[in-house]
Amino acid sequence: MGDEVKKSLGRCLHQGDVFETFYALFLERDPRISELFVNTDMQEQKRLLRHGLNNVVAFHEGSFTAQKAMERIRYTHGRDRMNIPPDLYHHWVEAMIEAVRQFDPEFDSRLEASWRQVLREGVDFVRAGYLE
Ligand code: HEM
Repeated sequence: MGDEVKKSLGRCLHQGDVFETFYALFLERDPRISELFVNTDMQEQKRLLRHGLNNVVAFHEGSFTAQKAMERIRYTHGRDRMNIPPDLYHHWVEAMIEAVRQFDPEFDSRLEASWRQVLREGVDFVRAGYLE
């Protein structure tokens, strides 16, 4: 499942700026999301997201390094740090699925299910750190 998702991400990156599209879709899903990114350098944020997404996939595969990276992200996104509301996390998944749907020529419902599984694990983990 991780392999299929990695290959799919590779095809997306080959097609164009999938992360630009991700952020356009993500920010328009809720005014609270665009508000969180008003002062953000979006070029840098796209670079961070690329690493973040690689970590989400490697986390799914059980990588220890990715586990540590995800623990750090979980901490920074928590209530006493960046204070990302837990009810916004599903938008991250939906925007990513929509961006991949637009960019991967081989996208189908089976691949979508794999993407959803991998993303859900990462998002559930980060969201669950809210109160820590
Ligand atoms: C599993 C899902 C997510 C991952 C992997 C992720 C990853 C990252 C990473 C790597 C950073 C850079 C700072 C750091 O390393 O702590 C970051 C920053 C940030 N993230 Fe996330 N994120 C996720 C979900 C979200 C969601 C759902 C939101 C908002 C609804 C969000 C909002 C932000 C904001 C506002 C920043 C700081 C931007 C700035 O520096 O101005 N993230 N995220």
